[in-house]
Amino acid sequence: MALAVILLAAGQGSRMNSDLPKVLHRLGGVPLFAHALAAGRMLEPERVILVAGHGAEAVQKALSAIDADVEVALQEEQLGTGHAVAQALPLLEGFEGRVIVHYGDTPFVRWETLEALAESPADVTVLGFHVNDPEARYGRLIEDEMGLERIVEFKDATDEERAVTLCNSGLLCADADHLKLLIAGLKNENAAGEYYLTDVIAGARAMGLTTAAVTCDETETLGINTRAELARAEAAFQARARAQAMEDGVTLSDPASVYFALDTAIGRDAVIGQHVVFGPRVTVESGAEILPFSHLEGCHVSRGATVGPFARLRPGAELAEDVHVGNFVEIKNAILDEGVKVGHLTYIGDAQVGEHTNIGAGTVTCNYDGVMKHRTTIGAHAFIGSSTMLVAPVNVGAHALTGSGSVITEDVPEGAVALGRAKQVTKPGLAVKLMDMLRAEKARRAGKQ
Ligand code: UD1
Ligand code: MG
Repeated sequence: MALAVILLAAGQGSRMNSDLPKVLHRLGGVPLFAHALAAGRMLEPERVILVAGHGAEAVQKALSAIDADVEVALQEEQLGTGHAVAQALPLLEGFEGRVIVHYGDTPFVRWETLEALAESPADVTVLGFHVNDPEARYGRLIEDEMGLERIVEFKDATDEERAVTLCNSGLLCADADHLKLLIAGLKNENAAGEYYLTDVIAGARAMGLTTAAVTCDETETLGINTRAELARAEAAFQARARAQAMEDGVTLSDPASVYFALDTAIGRDAVIGQHVVFGPRVTVESGAEILPFSHLEGCHVSRGATVGPFARLRPGAELAEDVHVGNFVEIKNAILDEGVKVGHLTYIGDAQVGEHTNIGAGTVTCNYDGVMKHRTTIGAHAFIGSSTMLVAPVNVGAHALTGSGSVITEDVPEGAVALGRAKQVTKPGLAVKLMDMLRAEKARRAGKQ
Protein backbone atom coordinates (compact mmCIF):
# COMPACT_ATOMS: atom_id res chain seq x y z
CA MET A 1 0.00 0.00 0.00
CA ALA A 2 1.45 3.37 -1.07
CA LEU A 3 2.06 5.80 1.78
CA ALA A 4 2.45 9.57 2.04
CA VAL A 5 3.47 11.55 5.13
CA ILE A 6 2.34 15.13 5.76
CA LEU A 7 4.45 16.86 8.38
CA LEU A 8 2.89 19.97 9.92
CA ALA A 9 5.49 22.59 10.74
CA ALA A 10 3.93 25.96 10.02
CA GLY A 11 3.25 27.10 13.58
CA GLN A 12 5.25 29.94 15.11
CA GLY A 13 5.82 28.28 18.44
CA SER A 14 5.19 31.56 20.26
CA ARG A 15 5.90 30.02 23.65
CA MET A 16 9.53 29.40 22.61
CA ASN A 17 9.92 33.21 22.74
CA SER A 18 12.29 33.05 19.78
CA ASP A 19 13.00 34.54 16.37
CA LEU A 20 13.80 31.05 15.17
CA PRO A 21 10.82 28.98 13.97
CA LYS A 22 10.10 26.31 16.60
CA VAL A 23 10.91 23.34 14.38
CA LEU A 24 14.43 24.71 13.74
CA HIS A 25 15.43 24.59 17.40
CA ARG A 26 17.90 21.77 17.82
CA LEU A 27 17.24 18.45 19.51
CA GLY A 28 19.92 15.76 19.40
CA GLY A 29 22.07 17.99 17.18
CA VAL A 30 19.49 18.33 14.39
CA PRO A 31 16.45 20.57 13.82
CA LEU A 32 13.43 19.41 15.78
CA PHE A 33 11.42 18.45 12.68
CA ALA A 34 14.15 16.02 11.57
CA HIS A 35 13.10 13.57 14.29
CA ALA A 36 9.53 13.13 13.05
CA LEU A 37 10.86 13.08 9.50
CA ALA A 38 13.35 10.30 10.28
CA ALA A 39 10.65 8.15 11.90
CA GLY A 40 8.38 8.70 8.89
CA ARG A 41 11.20 7.81 6.49
CA MET A 42 11.53 4.41 8.17
CA LEU A 43 8.19 3.44 6.58
CA GLU A 44 9.63 4.23 3.13
CA PRO A 45 6.77 6.50 2.07
CA GLU A 46 6.40 7.41 -1.59
CA ARG A 47 5.81 11.05 -0.78
CA VAL A 48 6.71 13.32 2.13
CA ILE A 49 5.25 16.82 2.29
CA LEU A 50 6.20 19.37 4.91
CA VAL A 51 3.81 22.23 5.57
CA ALA A 52 5.85 25.36 6.32
CA GLY A 53 4.58 28.79 7.34
CA HIS A 54 6.46 30.76 9.99
CA GLY A 55 10.05 31.15 8.82
CA ALA A 56 9.25 29.01 5.78
CA GLU A 57 12.40 30.08 3.94
CA ALA A 58 14.67 29.06 6.81
CA VAL A 59 12.76 25.82 7.29
CA GLN A 60 13.08 25.01 3.61
CA LYS A 61 16.82 25.70 3.70
CA ALA A 62 17.34 23.42 6.70
CA LEU A 63 15.21 20.79 5.04
CA SER A 64 17.21 20.76 1.80
CA ALA A 65 20.37 20.11 3.81
CA ILE A 66 18.78 17.10 5.51
CA ASP A 67 16.42 15.49 3.02
CA ALA A 68 16.15 16.90 -0.48
CA ASP A 69 13.24 14.62 -1.38
CA VAL A 70 10.72 16.34 0.87
CA GLU A 71 8.17 18.54 -0.91
CA VAL A 72 7.12 21.76 0.77
CA ALA A 73 3.62 23.23 0.93
CA LEU A 74 3.19 26.79 2.13
CA GLN A 75 0.57 27.76 4.71
CA GLU A 76 0.71 31.55 4.67
CA GLU A 77 -1.77 32.07 7.49
CA GLN A 78 -2.01 29.60 10.34
CA LEU A 79 -5.72 28.94 10.41
CA GLY A 80 -5.50 25.59 12.18
CA THR A 81 -4.24 22.04 11.78
CA GLY A 82 -7.04 21.13 9.33
CA HIS A 83 -6.20 24.16 7.20
CA ALA A 84 -2.51 23.15 7.29
CA VAL A 85 -3.34 19.70 5.91
CA ALA A 86 -5.50 21.34 3.24
CA GLN A 87 -2.41 23.18 1.93
CA ALA A 88 -0.58 19.89 1.37
CA LEU A 89 -3.38 18.03 -0.38
CA PRO A 90 -3.08 19.68 -3.82
CA LEU A 91 0.42 18.17 -4.02
CA LEU A 92 -1.18 14.75 -3.54
CA GLU A 93 -3.43 15.14 -6.57
CA GLY A 94 -3.61 11.71 -8.19
CA PHE A 95 -1.92 9.96 -5.24
CA GLU A 96 -3.74 6.81 -4.15
CA GLY A 97 -2.85 5.32 -0.82
CA ARG A 98 -2.64 6.02 2.89
CA VAL A 99 -1.68 9.40 4.32
CA ILE A 100 -0.19 9.89 7.77
CA VAL A 101 -0.43 13.37 9.27
CA HIS A 102 2.47 13.95 11.68
CA TYR A 103 3.68 17.02 13.61
CA GLY A 104 7.12 18.58 13.25
CA ASP A 105 7.21 19.46 16.95
CA THR A 106 6.50 15.92 18.16
CA PRO A 107 9.86 14.15 17.96
CA PHE A 108 9.49 10.88 19.82
CA VAL A 109 6.78 8.89 18.05
CA ARG A 110 8.52 5.62 17.15
CA TRP A 111 8.35 4.34 13.58
CA GLU A 112 6.74 1.13 14.86
CA THR A 113 3.89 3.28 16.17
CA LEU A 114 3.57 5.03 12.81
CA GLU A 115 3.46 1.62 11.18
CA ALA A 116 0.64 0.50 13.49
CA LEU A 117 -1.23 3.67 12.54
CA ALA A 118 -0.72 3.00 8.83
CA GLU A 119 -1.82 -0.61 9.16
CA SER A 120 -4.98 0.08 11.16
CA PRO A 121 -7.97 -1.41 9.31
CA ALA A 122 -10.27 1.57 10.03
CA ASP A 123 -10.85 4.21 7.37
CA VAL A 124 -9.63 6.95 9.68
CA THR A 125 -7.36 6.18 12.64
CA VAL A 126 -6.07 8.56 15.27
CA LEU A 127 -3.05 8.03 17.50
CA GLY A 128 -4.09 8.35 21.13
CA PHE A 129 -2.47 7.93 24.53
CA HIS A 130 -3.56 7.85 28.16
CA VAL A 131 -2.53 10.88 30.20
CA ASN A 132 -1.43 10.74 33.81
CA ASP A 133 -2.33 14.37 34.39
CA PRO A 134 -6.10 14.90 34.10
CA GLU A 135 -5.54 18.67 33.71
CA ALA A 136 -3.45 18.15 30.55
CA ARG A 137 -4.81 20.40 27.81
CA TYR A 138 -4.92 17.81 25.02
CA GLY A 139 -7.92 17.07 22.84
CA ARG A 140 -9.99 14.16 24.21
CA LEU A 141 -10.89 11.05 22.21
CA ILE A 142 -14.57 10.27 22.79
CA GLU A 143 -15.35 6.64 22.02
CA ASP A 144 -18.60 4.76 21.64
CA GLU A 145 -19.51 1.14 20.90
CA MET A 146 -18.64 1.61 17.21
CA GLY A 147 -15.13 2.95 17.84
CA LEU A 148 -14.00 6.56 17.91
CA GLU A 149 -16.99 8.91 17.85
CA ARG A 150 -15.32 12.34 17.82
CA ILE A 151 -12.45 14.41 19.20
CA VAL A 152 -13.15 17.38 21.40
CA GLU A 153 -10.53 20.06 21.98
CA PHE A 154 -9.78 20.71 25.66
CA LYS A 155 -10.93 24.31 25.42
CA ASP A 156 -14.25 23.23 23.90
CA ALA A 157 -14.79 20.25 26.24
CA THR A 158 -17.32 19.82 29.04
CA ASP A 159 -16.14 18.72 32.50
CA GLU A 160 -17.35 15.22 31.74
CA GLU A 161 -15.35 15.12 28.48
CA ARG A 162 -12.27 16.52 30.20
CA ALA A 163 -12.43 13.60 32.65
CA VAL A 164 -11.65 11.21 29.78
CA THR A 165 -7.98 10.21 30.00
CA LEU A 166 -7.63 9.03 26.37
CA CYS A 167 -6.06 11.98 24.57
CA ASN A 168 -5.28 13.02 21.02
CA SER A 169 -1.62 12.96 19.94
CA GLY A 170 -2.65 14.90 16.82
CA LEU A 171 -1.36 12.19 14.45
CA LEU A 172 -3.82 10.43 12.21
CA CYS A 173 -4.01 8.24 9.16
CA ALA A 174 -6.58 7.91 6.36
CA ASP A 175 -6.77 7.09 2.67
CA ALA A 176 -5.91 10.10 0.52
CA ASP A 177 -9.35 10.07 -1.14
CA HIS A 178 -11.16 10.07 2.20
CA LEU A 179 -8.86 12.71 3.67
CA LYS A 180 -9.54 15.08 0.77
CA LEU A 181 -13.30 14.79 1.24
CA LEU A 182 -13.07 15.15 5.02
CA ILE A 183 -10.76 18.19 4.93
CA ALA A 184 -12.99 19.88 2.33
CA GLY A 185 -15.89 19.52 4.78
CA LEU A 186 -14.17 21.22 7.77
CA LYS A 187 -15.69 24.34 9.33
CA ASN A 188 -14.11 26.79 11.77
CA GLU A 189 -17.05 27.13 14.15
CA ASN A 190 -15.27 26.57 17.48
CA ALA A 191 -13.71 28.41 20.43
CA ALA A 192 -10.51 29.20 18.48
CA GLY A 193 -12.12 30.00 15.12
CA GLU A 194 -9.71 27.50 13.51
CA TYR A 195 -10.08 24.64 11.06
CA TYR A 196 -9.48 21.70 13.38
CA LEU A 197 -8.02 18.56 11.84
CA THR A 198 -9.65 16.72 14.73
CA ASP A 199 -13.12 17.38 13.30
CA VAL A 200 -12.45 14.86 10.52
CA ILE A 201 -13.48 12.09 12.92
CA ALA A 202 -17.04 13.34 13.39
CA GLY A 203 -17.06 14.03 9.64
CA ALA A 204 -15.97 10.47 8.88
CA ARG A 205 -18.73 9.08 11.08
CA ALA A 206 -21.30 11.22 9.29
CA MET A 207 -20.07 9.81 5.96
CA GLY A 208 -20.38 6.24 7.23
CA LEU A 209 -16.60 5.62 7.38
CA THR A 210 -15.06 3.50 10.11
CA THR A 211 -12.94 5.23 12.75
CA ALA A 212 -10.56 3.97 15.42
CA ALA A 213 -7.83 4.98 17.82
CA VAL A 214 -4.53 3.16 18.23
CA THR A 215 -2.59 4.02 21.34
CA CYS A 216 1.03 4.50 22.29
CA ASP A 217 2.90 5.49 25.42
CA GLU A 218 2.55 9.10 26.56
CA THR A 219 6.33 9.58 26.33
CA GLU A 220 6.13 9.16 22.54
CA THR A 221 3.62 11.96 22.04
CA LEU A 222 5.57 14.59 23.96
CA GLY A 223 5.32 17.85 22.00
CA ILE A 224 7.79 20.73 22.34
CA ASN A 225 6.23 24.11 23.12
CA THR A 226 8.71 25.83 25.45
CA ARG A 227 12.46 25.94 25.97
CA ALA A 228 12.00 24.05 29.23
CA GLU A 229 10.22 21.28 27.32
CA LEU A 230 12.99 21.34 24.73
CA ALA A 231 15.59 20.86 27.48
CA ARG A 232 13.59 17.98 28.99
CA ALA A 233 13.24 16.42 25.56
CA GLU A 234 17.00 16.72 25.03
CA ALA A 235 17.62 14.89 28.30
CA ALA A 236 15.12 12.19 27.31
CA PHE A 237 16.69 11.87 23.86
CA GLN A 238 20.21 11.55 25.28
CA ALA A 239 19.12 8.96 27.86
CA ARG A 240 17.61 6.85 25.09
CA ALA A 241 20.58 7.29 22.74
CA ARG A 242 23.01 6.23 25.49
CA ALA A 243 20.97 3.16 26.36
CA GLN A 244 20.69 2.24 22.68
CA ALA A 245 24.45 2.63 22.10
CA MET A 246 25.22 0.31 25.02
CA GLU A 247 22.64 -2.19 23.80
CA ASP A 248 24.38 -2.07 20.41
CA GLY A 249 27.63 -3.13 22.07
CA VAL A 250 29.35 0.24 22.49
CA THR A 251 31.30 0.85 25.70
CA LEU A 252 30.50 4.21 27.32
CA SER A 253 32.91 4.83 30.20
CA ASP A 254 30.57 7.43 31.71
CA PRO A 255 27.27 7.35 29.77
CA ALA A 256 25.83 10.51 31.34
CA SER A 257 28.68 12.64 29.98
CA VAL A 258 28.44 11.48 26.35
CA TYR A 259 26.15 13.40 23.98
CA PHE A 260 24.76 11.94 20.77
CA ALA A 261 23.07 13.32 17.67
CA LEU A 262 20.02 11.74 16.06
CA ASP A 263 22.13 10.12 13.34
CA THR A 264 25.25 9.10 15.30
CA ALA A 265 26.27 5.60 14.20
CA ILE A 266 28.78 3.70 16.31
CA GLY A 267 29.98 0.15 15.69
CA ARG A 268 30.11 -2.69 18.15
CA ASP A 269 33.03 -2.71 20.59
CA ALA A 270 33.90 0.91 19.97
CA VAL A 271 34.93 2.59 23.23
CA ILE A 272 33.75 6.12 24.02
CA GLY A 273 35.46 7.91 26.89
CA GLN A 274 34.07 10.53 29.25
CA HIS A 275 32.74 13.88 28.00
CA VAL A 276 32.62 13.11 24.31
CA VAL A 277 30.20 15.12 22.15
CA PHE A 278 28.89 13.85 18.81
CA GLY A 279 27.46 16.49 16.47
CA PRO A 280 25.45 15.38 13.44
CA ARG A 281 26.70 12.96 10.75
CA VAL A 282 29.31 10.99 12.66
CA THR A 283 30.11 7.35 12.01
CA VAL A 284 32.55 5.41 14.17
CA GLU A 285 33.45 1.87 13.15
CA SER A 286 33.78 -1.16 15.35
CA GLY A 287 36.70 -1.17 17.70
CA ALA A 288 37.65 2.48 17.31
CA GLU A 289 38.32 4.43 20.48
CA ILE A 290 37.31 8.01 21.21
CA LEU A 291 39.19 9.26 24.27
CA PRO A 292 37.75 11.79 26.74
CA PHE A 293 36.83 15.40 25.94
CA SER A 294 36.69 14.99 22.17
CA HIS A 295 34.23 16.75 19.86
CA LEU A 296 33.22 15.13 16.56
CA GLU A 297 30.97 16.33 13.77
CA GLY A 298 30.40 15.23 10.16
CA CYS A 299 33.27 12.75 10.22
CA HIS A 300 34.14 9.09 9.87
CA VAL A 301 36.44 7.11 12.17
CA SER A 302 37.50 3.68 10.94
CA ARG A 303 38.23 0.46 12.76
CA GLY A 304 41.24 0.57 15.07
CA ALA A 305 41.60 4.35 14.98
CA THR A 306 42.10 6.32 18.19
CA VAL A 307 40.97 9.90 18.68
CA GLY A 308 41.79 12.26 21.54
CA PRO A 309 41.84 12.99 24.40
CA PHE A 310 40.89 16.61 23.57
CA ALA A 311 40.61 16.15 19.80
CA ARG A 312 38.28 17.91 17.41
CA LEU A 313 37.09 16.26 14.21
CA ARG A 314 35.17 18.68 12.01
CA PRO A 315 33.05 18.05 8.91
CA GLY A 316 34.81 16.10 6.20
CA ALA A 317 37.39 14.45 8.49
CA GLU A 318 37.87 10.88 7.25
CA LEU A 319 40.13 8.67 9.36
CA ALA A 320 41.13 5.35 7.79
CA GLU A 321 42.02 2.26 9.82
CA ASP A 322 44.51 2.59 12.65
CA VAL A 323 44.87 6.34 12.32
CA HIS A 324 45.89 8.08 15.53
CA VAL A 325 44.73 11.63 16.22
CA GLY A 326 45.97 12.86 19.57
CA ASN A 327 45.46 15.75 21.96
CA PHE A 328 44.71 19.30 20.81
CA VAL A 329 44.51 18.25 17.19
CA GLU A 330 41.87 19.62 14.81
CA ILE A 331 41.04 17.87 11.53
CA LYS A 332 38.71 19.40 8.95
CA ASN A 333 37.82 18.27 5.42
CA ALA A 334 40.82 15.97 5.31
CA ILE A 335 41.41 12.34 4.48
CA LEU A 336 43.98 10.55 6.62
CA ASP A 337 44.96 7.22 5.09
CA GLU A 338 45.68 4.07 7.03
CA GLY A 339 48.09 4.34 9.94
CA VAL A 340 48.62 8.12 9.81
CA LYS A 341 49.75 9.60 13.13
CA VAL A 342 48.93 13.18 14.15
CA GLY A 343 49.76 13.17 17.82
CA HIS A 344 49.77 16.69 19.18
CA LEU A 345 48.78 20.34 18.77
CA THR A 346 48.10 20.29 15.05
CA TYR A 347 45.66 21.64 12.48
CA ILE A 348 45.04 19.61 9.32
CA GLY A 349 42.44 21.23 7.04
CA ASP A 350 41.58 20.72 3.35
CA ALA A 351 44.18 18.02 3.03
CA GLN A 352 44.98 14.47 1.98
CA VAL A 353 47.60 12.52 3.93
CA GLY A 354 49.02 9.23 2.60
CA GLU A 355 49.29 6.07 4.64
CA HIS A 356 51.68 5.76 7.58
CA THR A 357 52.78 9.37 7.39
CA ASN A 358 53.77 10.96 10.67
CA ILE A 359 52.85 14.57 11.36
CA GLY A 360 54.96 16.25 14.02
CA ALA A 361 53.63 18.35 16.89
CA GLY A 362 52.48 21.87 16.10
CA THR A 363 52.11 21.35 12.35
CA VAL A 364 49.64 23.60 10.55
CA THR A 365 48.21 23.32 7.06
CA CYS A 366 47.89 27.03 6.27
CA ASN A 367 44.82 26.54 4.10
CA TYR A 368 43.31 30.02 4.07
CA ASP A 369 44.83 33.08 2.40
CA GLY A 370 42.17 35.44 3.72
CA VAL A 371 39.97 34.96 0.67
CA MET A 372 40.23 31.38 -0.59
CA LYS A 373 40.86 27.91 0.82
CA HIS A 374 43.66 25.79 -0.65
CA ARG A 375 44.59 22.12 -0.45
CA THR A 376 47.62 20.36 0.95
CA THR A 377 48.56 16.86 -0.14
CA ILE A 378 51.13 14.73 1.63
CA GLY A 379 52.20 11.36 0.25
CA ALA A 380 52.59 8.05 2.03
CA HIS A 381 55.35 7.33 4.58
CA ALA A 382 56.33 10.99 4.77
CA PHE A 383 57.68 12.63 7.92
CA ILE A 384 56.52 16.15 8.66
CA GLY A 385 58.81 17.71 11.25
CA SER A 386 57.35 19.42 14.31
CA SER A 387 55.97 22.88 13.76
CA THR A 388 56.00 22.70 9.96
CA MET A 389 53.83 25.38 8.33
CA LEU A 390 52.50 23.92 5.08
CA VAL A 391 51.42 26.95 3.07
CA ALA A 392 48.73 25.67 0.72
CA PRO A 393 48.38 24.96 -2.11
CA VAL A 394 51.34 22.66 -1.61
CA ASN A 395 52.27 19.02 -2.19
CA VAL A 396 54.72 16.93 -0.22
CA GLY A 397 55.74 13.69 -1.94
CA ALA A 398 55.81 10.19 -0.52
CA HIS A 399 58.78 9.34 1.74
CA ALA A 400 59.68 13.05 1.92
CA LEU A 401 60.78 14.82 5.11
CA THR A 402 60.39 18.40 6.28
CA GLY A 403 62.66 19.88 8.91
CA SER A 404 61.15 21.09 12.18
CA GLY A 405 60.04 24.69 12.10
CA SER A 406 59.99 24.83 8.30
CA VAL A 407 57.67 27.09 6.37
CA ILE A 408 56.98 25.03 3.24
CA THR A 409 55.79 27.18 0.36
CA GLU A 410 57.01 25.04 -2.56
CA ASP A 411 56.23 21.44 -3.49
CA VAL A 412 58.56 18.83 -1.99
CA PRO A 413 59.36 15.96 -4.38
CA GLU A 414 59.14 12.31 -3.38
CA GLY A 415 61.95 11.21 -1.10
CA ALA A 416 63.36 14.76 -0.65
CA VAL A 417 64.26 16.65 2.52
CA ALA A 418 62.95 20.22 2.64
CA LEU A 419 64.20 22.81 5.09
CA GLY A 420 62.48 26.16 5.04
CA ARG A 421 63.89 28.09 7.97
CA ALA A 422 66.73 30.52 8.73
CA LYS A 423 70.13 28.95 9.25
CA GLN A 424 71.13 28.74 12.91
CA VAL A 425 73.74 31.22 14.19
CA THR A 426 75.74 30.31 17.34
CA LYS A 427 77.94 32.82 19.27
CA PRO A 428 80.11 31.14 21.93
CA GLY A 429 79.99 32.82 25.37
CA LEU A 430 77.68 35.62 24.25
CA ALA A 431 74.77 34.60 26.54
CA VAL A 432 76.86 35.04 29.69
CA LYS A 433 78.15 38.42 28.50
CA LEU A 434 74.66 39.62 27.69
CA MET A 435 73.38 38.61 31.14
CA ASP A 436 76.24 40.41 32.85
CA MET A 437 75.49 43.58 30.86
CA LEU A 438 71.80 43.42 31.73
CA ARG A 439 72.48 42.89 35.44
CA ALA A 440 74.91 45.84 35.48
CA GLU A 441 72.26 48.03 33.81
CA LYS A 442 69.63 46.96 36.39
CA ALA A 443 72.02 47.84 39.27
CA ARG A 444 72.84 51.24 37.70
CA ARG A 445 69.11 52.11 37.50
CA ALA A 446 68.49 50.97 41.11
CA GLY A 447 71.46 53.18 42.31
CA LYS A 448 69.92 56.27 40.69
CA GLN A 449 66.68 56.09 42.72
C1 UD1 B 1 -3.43 19.66 18.56
C2 UD1 B 1 -4.76 18.92 18.50
C3 UD1 B 1 -5.11 18.37 19.88
C4 UD1 B 1 -3.99 17.49 20.36
C5 UD1 B 1 -2.66 18.24 20.35
C6 UD1 B 1 -1.52 17.29 20.65
C7 UD1 B 1 -6.06 20.08 16.78
C8 UD1 B 1 -7.18 21.01 16.52
N1 UD1 B 1 -5.80 19.84 18.06
O1 UD1 B 1 -3.63 20.79 19.40
O2 UD1 B 1 -6.29 17.63 19.84
O3 UD1 B 1 -4.25 17.00 21.67
O4 UD1 B 1 -2.39 18.80 19.05
O5 UD1 B 1 -0.32 18.00 20.79
O6 UD1 B 1 -5.48 19.55 15.85
N2 UD1 B 1 0.17 23.80 12.77
C9 UD1 B 1 0.28 24.27 11.48
N3 UD1 B 1 -0.61 25.19 11.02
C10 UD1 B 1 -1.62 25.66 11.80
C11 UD1 B 1 -1.73 25.19 13.12
C12 UD1 B 1 -0.83 24.26 13.57
O7 UD1 B 1 1.19 23.85 10.75
O8 UD1 B 1 -2.38 26.49 11.30
C13 UD1 B 1 1.13 22.79 13.25
C14 UD1 B 1 1.98 23.33 14.38
O9 UD1 B 1 3.19 23.88 13.87
C15 UD1 B 1 2.24 22.07 15.20
C16 UD1 B 1 1.01 21.21 14.94
O10 UD1 B 1 0.41 21.71 13.77
O11 UD1 B 1 3.37 21.34 14.73
C17 UD1 B 1 0.01 21.24 16.10
O12 UD1 B 1 -0.49 22.54 16.27
P1 UD1 B 1 -0.82 23.14 17.70
O13 UD1 B 1 -1.28 24.52 17.53
O14 UD1 B 1 0.30 22.88 18.62
O15 UD1 B 1 -2.07 22.23 18.11
P2 UD1 B 1 -2.59 22.01 19.58
O16 UD1 B 1 -3.38 23.17 20.00
O17 UD1 B 1 -1.48 21.56 20.45
MG1 MG C 1 0.69 21.76 20.43
